[in-house]
Amino acid sequence: MSIQLFDMTGKVVLITGGSRGLGLEMAKGFARAGADIVIASRKLDACEAAAREIEALGRRALPIATHVGKWATLEALVETAWSHFGKIDVLINNAGMSPVAPSIVETSEALFDKVIEVNLKGPFRLAALLGTRMAAGEGGSIINISSTGAIRPQPHSAPYAAAKAGLNAITTAFAFEYGPKVRVNCIMAGPFETDIAKAWSDEEKAAYTIKSGSALRRLGKPDEIVAAALFLASDGAAYTTGTMVRVDGGLP
Ligand SMILES: NC(=O)c1ccc[n+]([C@@H]2O[C@H](COP(=O)([O-])OP(=O)(O)OC[C@H]3O[C@@H](n4cnc5c(N)ncnc54)[C@H](OP(=O)(O)O)[C@@H]3O)[C@@H](O)[C@H]2O)c1
Repeated sequence: MSIQLFDMTGKVVLITGGSRGLGLEMAKGFARAGADIVIASRKLDACEAAAREIEALGRRALPIATHVGKWATLEALVETAWSHFGKIDVLINNAGMSPVAPSIVETSEALFDKVIEVNLKGPFRLAALLGTRMAAGEGGSIINISSTGAIRPQPHSAPYAAAKAGLNAITTAFAFEYGPKVRVNCIMAGPFETDIAKAWSDEEKAAYTIKSGSALRRLGKPDEIVAAALFLASDGAAYTTGTMVRVDGGLP
């Protein structure tokens, strides 16, 4: 076992939602490991700012404005990124959103559809498009960023939990579809201090700091997701596919 197993030199990584939060930390982490990065999120200026951070690390970066919930736009994303770099080795389906509804019965159809589109439908289509190209080419690795909410669903975010549970399910299905050349895995993230956490009350945050709340008794720092993603993307995980890795500080 050598540290070089985790080397990303010469690899191209497409990260949705790579402009901030966990996505930006993974983008910088993969760039530090030697990869060139495609940053795809809705706001072009934010993608460009992230791309400048990647270039400052000595790697190439391509910012692309994309709404991952729009099925038809994902083909253009794939074509633009693939033709720019000549390949994509790693897809990180990271873009996501978790709006809270007042209650299950008050959940609107619009909110339900949006949550499913961004957290499940878009990742499904993007992984299908890139998995097909990777399998026909040099192979690759797909990482879906799910949530521990998938296995601990709460009423206020039931559609989000359902979408992430769906993401877990397609992780396994896609591993069979695109293996053996493409590995497909999933990280179930716990509570991390990103923009998503700004919507949480102090009580909600404090609940993670007590012994019964999480084994590590704190929220995660955004860069604490990076090593798990690097592992799953790299040759170090050559025999790991179709699985879910929890990075959650030890939730009960
Ligand atoms: N933070 C947590 O506690 C936590 C816990 C469990 C799971 N997760 C999961 O981890 C992933 C990243 O979360 P985060 O905390 O880093 O979130 P974040 O800080 O809110 O960042 C979300 C990223 O996704 C992009 N994005 C949002 N909607 C998009 C869309 N429709 N199309 C394309 N890009 C979009 C955002 O950029 P734009 O606004 O420019 O589009 C941004 O780059 C999500 O899948 C989330 O569900 C997070």
